[in-house]
Amino acid sequence: MEKKKVIFSGMQPSGSLTLGNYLGALKNWVNLQGQYESYYCVVDMHAITVPKEPKHLRKNTLEVLANYIAAGLDPEQVTLFIQSHVPAHAELSWILNCFSYYGELSRMTQFKDKSRKQDSNAITAGLFTYPVLMAADILLYQADLVPVGEDQRQHLEITRDIAQRFNNRFSETFTVPEPFISKDVAKVMSLQDPNSKMSKSDSNENAYILLMDKPEKIKRKFKRSVTDSIGVVNYTDDQPGIKNLINIYSKITNKKPEEIVTDYEGKGYAKLKEDVAEVVIAELEPIQEKIDYLLKNKDYLEKIYIAGAQKAEAAAHKTLRKVKRKVGFIPR
Ligand code: TYM
Repeated sequence: MEKKKVIFSGMQPSGSLTLGNYLGALKNWVNLQGQYESYYCVVDMHAITVPKEPKHLRKNTLEVLANYIAAGLDPEQVTLFIQSHVPAHAELSWILNCFSYYGELSRMTQFKDKSRKQDSNAITAGLFTYPVLMAADILLYQADLVPVGEDQRQHLEITRDIAQRFNNRFSETFTVPEPFISKDVAKVMSLQDPNSKMSKSDSNENAYILLMDKPEKIKRKFKRSVTDSIGVVNYTDDQPGIKNLINIYSKITNKKPEEIVTDYEGKGYAKLKEDVAEVVIAELEPIQEKIDYLLKNKDYLEKIYIAGAQKAEAAAHKTLRKVKRKVGFIPR
């Protein structure tokens, strides 16, 4: 039997997940289920690269796990776990830090963006080496594919560079992973500034939809979404607000953007906004019910993350042993 390809991906428990996380990544993970050997992680170690209240981190970590399952990931088919439960991530990350360069890490646009938002005295070394921990996550599992949104492309490029550098120095050790970025909604944009991505760290609550937002809130946020003064529904870069709404609609209903444009001929933006809100609400309702249910069943979640960590650990250890031997560490 041919060996299944390996998938690895993760999300930070830095708050509740957004429609961007869902359409850009999570929904694709669900669609890929069954065809691959898959590992999906809640990256709590990444979340503490910026200040984080411990009780919020605990709550959000369980919430993200519940979101994964509620969105349709089946713990019988995929491995779900919490990053800090598998110490091999921290160990490999240290070793890879010693094969990563200051210059390349300084060029990471997410580091530049995130550090711009912080007081310069509060930028941690962890934030700077964030991409190295991400490389360790991926390379530990010898992942072939990494399904993420467009904003993670640069982090995957540095992961590939680090893997190739290590392989060249010590012989074939890591699979060099490919990004797996869906073309349709690689980037869900802010509802308030359609030229920047939808992000939960936005100071304006109207800019993003959270997976847990109630129907009234979703309607209100779409109603207030920023568009343009052209007044005709078109799918073009000149109308980024409308394009974003069409992308969201299209990803959920599987209708092609051109079909949606035809459907809205002669209709105004208000109708499009109402309808997009409606499909989003219908998509999220069953997920929200399931999240509520799962969060009331913490024992079940605990079973999942314990079993997941055991499976992940076994796979991670194989790689870590090999890496330690290659760099010259004496086995105990
Ligand atoms: P995070 O938590 O910021 O985002 C999780 C996933 O959601 C995608 N995403 C979006 N996609 C489309 N439109 C948006 N507006 C949007 N916002 C977020 C992200 O691209 C991502 O796929 N560094 C990663 C977490 C990570 C990871 C990994 C990912 C840690 N280790 C290993 C893959 C493999 C991150 O920042 O995720």
